[in-house]
Amino acid sequence: MAAPTEITDTRFSLPQSALPTAWFNVAPHLASPLDPPLHPGTREPVGPDDLAPLFAQELIGQEMSADPWIDIPGEVLDVLRLWRPTPLVRARRLEAALGTTARIYFKDESVSPAGSHKPNSAVPQAFYNAKEGMTRLSTETGAGQWGTALAFACAQYDLECAVYMVRKSFEQKPYRKVIMETWGGTVVPSPIDDPGHPGSLGAAISDAVRDAVGRDDTHYALGSVLNHVLLHQTVIGLEAQQQLATAGETRPDVVIAPCGGGSNLGGVALPFLPDPSVRLLAAEPASCPTLTQGRYEYDFGDTAGFTPLMNMYTLGHDFVPPGIHAGGLRYHGDSPIISKLVHEGRMEAVAHRQRAVFEANVLFARVEGKVPAPEAGHAIASVIQEANDATAKGEDRVILFNYCGHGLLDLAAYQEYLAGDLVDEP
Ligand SMILES: Cc1ncc(COP(=O)(O)O)c(C=O)c1O
Repeated sequence: MAAPTEITDTRFSLPQSALPTAWFNVAPHLASPLDPPLHPGTREPVGPDDLAPLFAQELIGQEMSADPWIDIPGEVLDVLRLWRPTPLVRARRLEAALGTTARIYFKDESVSPAGSHKPNSAVPQAFYNAKEGMTRLSTETGAGQWGTALAFACAQYDLECAVYMVRKSFEQKPYRKVIMETWGGTVVPSPIDDPGHPGSLGAAISDAVRDAVGRDDTHYALGSVLNHVLLHQTVIGLEAQQQLATAGETRPDVVIAPCGGGSNLGGVALPFLPDPSVRLLAAEPASCPTLTQGRYEYDFGDTAGFTPLMNMYTLGHDFVPPGIHAGGLRYHGDSPIISKLVHEGRMEAVAHRQRAVFEANVLFARVEGKVPAPEAGHAIASVIQEANDATAKGEDRVILFNYCGHGLLDLAAYQEYLAGDLVDEP
């Protein structure tokens, strides 16, 4: 038997006591204040009262807060500690496969109960709503990850959970329904009034909002886009800062994440925003190219026009993206925070086609062992480009990316790719 090779650490874990106890609020770090959301009827800036039928007061406060840090309640920390802090991993075997001069690290958000970063916001959203007397939450889900996370979170605080799932994903991913029901959620395909329609996140948001405004016991929960969702996700970047220091790095040169509505990207990247030497990079699908080809203007968050208008990159609220497997990236708009950073040139954005994404995912699975969510593959495709670019320039670039979820409930997509049947959508 060959002698074991010298052990070099590739996994940087933090004790549970090192879990951040406050969220990082990016608002005071922006070059200028965010443009206000506008009421869909009057087109005047919305105030807290306009949002009260949908959201808990604490969440509305966070949405508009200018405080640099916001304390995480103890009852939320107790649940987050079920899986947090998540590991930071140095992808040495990917580095070797690429023959790169870059050092590649990923934050492994796939270890959460739901298998993605989404519970980081689902847990506080469920907590604040339960605390304010709600007994039920409604939501939309694209890939199924957010609905899964919210079903898990609702189970922690004894809330009912009604999920409207984009029909195309509902049909592609039958086990998503099973896992949500295991945690006590109920799931229906959306749009509910058009069974022939493949659905979109925008249409599912309309269904979920309609549900919430029609009932006194129900609030609505959104899994991305809004400021408070990105705020909750900043535990990712805050932990990564501690872990990179343990790994002997002063800072990442570039932080990369896939971008659907912007929550996992915001979570990993925003704590690095104050350091201008750190590049921030959004990776999105070429078939839903919101940041790379959208317009920067006010638009509705949903298809039916029930939600406030937000100033963001948008492909138009009636845009129906092709049925790509990265269901979580099929959204016409984007977080106003992320949109502003891209618009001002502080954040870069690139788009990848579906086959290239799966090629990256399969390489990653074969060398690092983990089978990524289709969404995560957009980041991995960008990581490979960055690493190759660093190698070509002879740079020891430090790359941090967010491994936002595993793909173990996305195997139908892998089956299609491995059979050679996966197409690049227009
Ligand atoms: C695994 C995964 N990654 C990324 C996303 C994209 O969402 P966001 O941009 O809010 O992180 C989703 C959305 O459902 C997801 O499930």
